[in-house]
Amino acid sequence: MTTAGTVLVTGAAGGTQGKTGRHVSEILLARGVPVRAFVHRLDERSDHLRGLGAEIAVGDFLDLRSVERALRGVSSVYFAYPVQTGLLDATAIMADAARRAGVTRLVDMVMLVSAPDAPTPRMRENYLSEQIFEWAGIGATHVRATVFYENLRALAGWSLAKDGTILLPWGSEETVLPLVSGEDVAHVAAAVLTSPVLKPGSSYPVVGEVLRLRDIVGTFGRVLERDVRYHEIPDQLWHDAALARGFNQHAVDHLSQLWRTLRTNGTRFEVTDTIETLLGRKPKAFEAFVREERSAFSAFAPAPESFQTPREQHISSQLG
Ligand SMILES: NC(=O)c1ccc[n+]([C@@H]2O[C@H](COP(=O)([O-])OP(=O)(O)OC[C@H]3O[C@@H](n4cnc5c(N)ncnc54)[C@H](OP(=O)(O)O)[C@@H]3O)[C@@H](O)[C@H]2O)c1
Repeated sequence: MTTAGTVLVTGAAGGTQGKTGRHVSEILLARGVPVRAFVHRLDERSDHLRGLGAEIAVGDFLDLRSVERALRGVSSVYFAYPVQTGLLDATAIMADAARRAGVTRLVDMVMLVSAPDAPTPRMRENYLSEQIFEWAGIGATHVRATVFYENLRALAGWSLAKDGTILLPWGSEETVLPLVSGEDVAHVAAAVLTSPVLKPGSSYPVVGEVLRLRDIVGTFGRVLERDVRYHEIPDQLWHDAALARGFNQHAVDHLSQLWRTLRTNGTRFEVTDTIETLLGRKPKAFEAFVREERSAFSAFAPAPESFQTPREQHISSQLG
């Protein structure tokens, strides 16, 4: 079953963020690269991957033995730990097991800013995680991506579908947001995983488009063919509503600080040349993403109990 060129792809089923592991698996399999898909559980998503030709390894990032088993006979790894608590434990486990398994290339998916003084706790953890992978001597390379377009589904899909509003603490409509398609980022990761030459320790900053919030609102209005309005809400309201909607505490803490930074610090962002250099094409535009995902922003589908929590209903009524 195992071949020398097998790539272990973590997060392969794809979750609520960019589904980069799923995209990386599909891209590699389409190119004939053997993939071992590391999944949390067997379900229709693992069936889909098996159907495409992936070998399935069930395991948990935080369970050393399951990571060890998944790494047997593998020389390359795609590591994408979701925005949830436990990144440093997962990193130490993967670094230890990969070192003993003889891994020579590990592509590490992190955020655009990865530094000891980065603004959010998750970004500072990302920095430490990068250092651990470097010390392990397993050919680590870091794909540093900005905020995924796909996040807009979870952040604003429900309110856009409901009444054409975007309720976020993003400051004025002049706030500048660096964004990228998670699918494009997966293509970058796949390119780095299969590149014949690679300098360990290198990093790839990925920004696909830099937009003002005003442009984002305009894009939604144009594509959804409806009146779209942005309402700035206070940090605490967003924080409470995000928790109520099922975002985990770690993600809410990270995002709350990120929103504060983006709306206040005036950093100048620029589109990076990583996608054009590695993929030979322009990054996917935000408008193309919204067109592809139009139904996710249009079809208001109440959850079985109530799509809005009582807290959100209160927030909506306050906002009129
Ligand atoms: N979101 C952004 O805007 C953004 C921007 C830049 C960088 N990033 C980076 O991108 C990465 C997120 O990747 P993604 O978008 O591909 O995530 P994703 O779509 O949310 O997928 C996460 C995957 O991880 C699996 N998983 C969760 N907990 C697990 C565990 N304990 N053991 C094994 N598998 C587990 C999930 O499986 P189940 O669903 O079965 O649990 C799911 O398949 C993070 O490293 C983040 O720092 C994100």
